[in-house]
Amino acid sequence: MLQSAARLSVAPMMDWTDRHCRYFHRLMSRRALLYTEMVTSAALVRGGARRLLDFDAAEHPVALQLGGSDPAELAQATRMGADEGYDEVNLNVGCPSDRVQSGTFGAVLMRHPDVVAECAAAMIAACNVEITVKCRIGVDDQAPEDVLPDFLEKVRAAGVRRVTIHARKAWLQGLSPKENRDVPPLDYPLVARMKAVFPELHISVNGGIGSLDAACGFLDQGLDGVMIGRAAYHDPAGVLLDADRLIWGDASPLSAPEEAVEAMLPYIDRHVAAGGKLHQVTRHMLGAFSGRPGARAWRRILSEGAHRPGADARLVREALAAVTGVGVESAA
Ligand SMILES: Cc1cc2nc3c(=O)[nH]c(=O)nc-3n(C[C@H](O)[C@H](O)[C@H](O)COP(=O)(O)O)c2cc1C
Repeated sequence: MLQSAARLSVAPMMDWTDRHCRYFHRLMSRRALLYTEMVTSAALVRGGARRLLDFDAAEHPVALQLGGSDPAELAQATRMGADEGYDEVNLNVGCPSDRVQSGTFGAVLMRHPDVVAECAAAMIAACNVEITVKCRIGVDDQAPEDVLPDFLEKVRAAGVRRVTIHARKAWLQGLSPKENRDVPPLDYPLVARMKAVFPELHISVNGGIGSLDAACGFLDQGLDGVMIGRAAYHDPAGVLLDADRLIWGDASPLSAPEEAVEAMLPYIDRHVAAGGKLHQVTRHMLGAFSGRPGARAWRRILSEGAHRPGADARLVREALAAVTGVGVESAA
């Protein structure tokens, strides 16, 4: 079932793919695999990040992404994730940020495939949920053509059956994490060649994929899955609303972003009633009408109003009315 869900996934994105974001995305696709933000195994094991594991049952299938490089600690964090009910635990071997480099994990682990294999083996031994890896094609001066097959062979031998490859290097010196998502060139053909070399591995491609059409193109070429990050966040309706139909041949759960917004209202009511802030949810909904009429008014009303004390679902109704042009006066 997860193999099928992984045909399309929404990437792990720190500060973006929190539980509110995932709940919103799930309304638009019942099938796509959703990833959490990265959580470090150290933070989980020390207990400080326990609440980051919380998620809503509606989010399944949902994967927890861990960052770390200590096998025992990762095993313990994996167990915590499995106990919490995550469907998959993913190891981050792609994040280039300084903070992460200092802890010897993330993309720098592309230099240490044996450590990654040891971590993956410990995670696999720790629980019954599937363990996956998200990696780059290499870092710095590495030759991806040489290091990527070696890396994949080692994680495969450790028992990993599914990997996602962000099809560009991370340059660990001199580029910001943001630049590291755009500047190093993409090499999709290399990822496709890895599928030919490792036919038994489930391989998802990631990086710069901007639409569902593009995703379908990769699946048609023989890749097993496509992971979309920024495009899914900035234009969730464009990427997810038709995904169930186009990728899995199911009916789409909703036909328009307006319906997804309506469906968020009870969730927002619950969140605010429990003491949460409106903007914590609506900040992930700003792109709901991306490229559609009313998108600007929608963003403006929510951006300006959602931080105000006492803001609640009425503001979302007001913004929605501005988009649909219905009941603007009464809502205003
Ligand atoms: C705001 C932001 C935060 C990210 N955080 C993570 C993360 O926690 N773990 C991870 O593996 N990748 C992270 N990434 C990288 C994405 O998962 C993805 O690999 C990258 O954005 C390329 O895919 P895209 O071009 O479809 O966005 C992040 C990307 C963004 C934009």
